[in-house]
Amino acid sequence: MSRILITSALPYINGVKHLGNMVGSMLPADVYARFQRARGHEVLCICATDEHGTPAELAALEAGQDVATYCAEQHQIQKDIGVRFGFSWDYFGRSSSPENRELTQHFCEKLDEAGLIEERVDEQVYSVDDGRFLPDRYIVGTCPKCGYENARGDQCENCTSVLDPVDLIDARSAISGGVNLEVRASRHLYLLQSKMVDRLRAWIDSKTDWPVLVTSIARKWLDEGLHDRCITRDLDWGIPVSRPGFENKVFYVWFDAPIEYIGATREWADEAPGSRDWKSWWYGEAAQDVRYVQFMGKDNVPFHSIGFPTTLLGSGEPWKVVDYIKGFNWLTYYGGKFSTSQKRGVFMDQALEILPADYWRYYLMANAPEGSDASFTWEHFAGTINKDLADVLGNFVNRTLRFTKSKFGEAVPDGGMPGAAEANLIKELDARLEAYTQHFERMEFRKAVAELRAIWASGNEYLTVAEPWAKFKQDRDAAAIGVRTGINLIRLFALLSQPVIPTISGKMLEALGVSGDDAAWPTGPAAALLEALKPGHPFTVPDVLVQKIEDAQVAEWTARFGGA
Ligand code: 2FM
Ligand code: ZN
Repeated sequence: MSRILITSALPYINGVKHLGNMVGSMLPADVYARFQRARGHEVLCICATDEHGTPAELAALEAGQDVATYCAEQHQIQKDIGVRFGFSWDYFGRSSSPENRELTQHFCEKLDEAGLIEERVDEQVYSVDDGRFLPDRYIVGTCPKCGYENARGDQCENCTSVLDPVDLIDARSAISGGVNLEVRASRHLYLLQSKMVDRLRAWIDSKTDWPVLVTSIARKWLDEGLHDRCITRDLDWGIPVSRPGFENKVFYVWFDAPIEYIGATREWADEAPGSRDWKSWWYGEAAQDVRYVQFMGKDNVPFHSIGFPTTLLGSGEPWKVVDYIKGFNWLTYYGGKFSTSQKRGVFMDQALEILPADYWRYYLMANAPEGSDASFTWEHFAGTINKDLADVLGNFVNRTLRFTKSKFGEAVPDGGMPGAAEANLIKELDARLEAYTQHFERMEFRKAVAELRAIWASGNEYLTVAEPWAKFKQDRDAAAIGVRTGINLIRLFALLSQPVIPTISGKMLEALGVSGDDAAWPTGPAAALLEALKPGHPFTVPDVLVQKIEDAQVAEWTARFGGA
């Protein structure tokens, strides 16, 4: 048994996330966490809301709330939705916690002691109308790279270029729209990333098993020459900088957000004093045996492969650094961007309004944007659910149990020794089980889900050959072997499907009266797995496990959310 620490990119506090956000972060992190727990490992799955920076302040302003109240409310909303999506976090924290404040200030001190912090006087945009500096998203204007008219000061949403507010053309205040802007001097702290280049490059070079998507982004940053990074801002909301002359400043959100991975672990420990040891996951000798895996979309890769490691390694203290970064491409909505600011695409609360979480979990993992971007369309979504979840899995479960009940009663029938059809099935399953586990170990979700679907399909193919419905009249025993194997397949499918569709799996196991240790990850040859539920084992028939999506629903949702 090993210890596995899992974190996913922290969702910004500014409203419920869309499917494009979670498909590369919280969802695969949860699927992986469930898989590793089922395998018997000790897992700590941590997430939190990312509550600082201009996105939080601007969203609170738009909502007409003070930032602290806004964040507290939105945190609870995001947490509830995550739980309803089945996210099995060990802890869902808040980057505005006292734990994170203390850690962030601590890291700044340590980096300073290591000679990696420097005070510099900067030119910053100041809005005369608003009487304040306008960092990052407080300023909007035309992107100097692509001409997009609503580019934000920190990044252009259209072409993803990272920007400096002073570069924007026709800049205006995001608060008042005022164009009465000046450039004024302001003192800031810089993290001297340039001094860490060699160390970071050697570290990245040692990660030979990382996805190319991730290492290529990290190397690009290193090759382009790592700039020293300003880690403070002229804002009220954020973690205060405990340093004379910095009374009106806070840390930059991208400095404190990743530290919250540690902060949230500490919040988790503080919730049960004496019984949880956060340091053993993060610090020194005790954390040596921890395998730390991070999940994120590709836009977050630079901050996790360069930014956060600079903080951890640069501190000179023995902090745990990530062992594996699983990065994702984009999920698009009909080929265009999902966008929080433009409210385009499907948001997590809307998704749950129309269908159960498992439908989304299955579709999104089956089509995870791993090798390249993937496109969401309602037609493709409905087709996948109807074919895979309803026809291949749901129908298998319902018709097997219904038929067994009607012919043999509500218990597994006997029928005697298995024959050639069962032997063929076992041979196929042995190979597929091995492949499925391997795909998960390598975090190749599309391949894993394709294998899962193939496992379900092998059950259908078996029943087509075994034909218990046709055989029942002439050969009751042969039919009994068929459904006995079928019911054992349901158990096997449920155990294997748990990481992806935990609720549906739970219903399958409940129908079979399987729980506790019996619900652990199936290991060993399929022959034994197909004998697990013995003759006489009782079952019940669940309601239709998966409802098909109708054409009329596709039409309704396309009209509501937009389509081709
Ligand atoms: O891009 C985002 O959504 C950020 N809120 C991710 C932060 S990840 C971590 F560093 F906290
Ligand atoms: Zn642009």
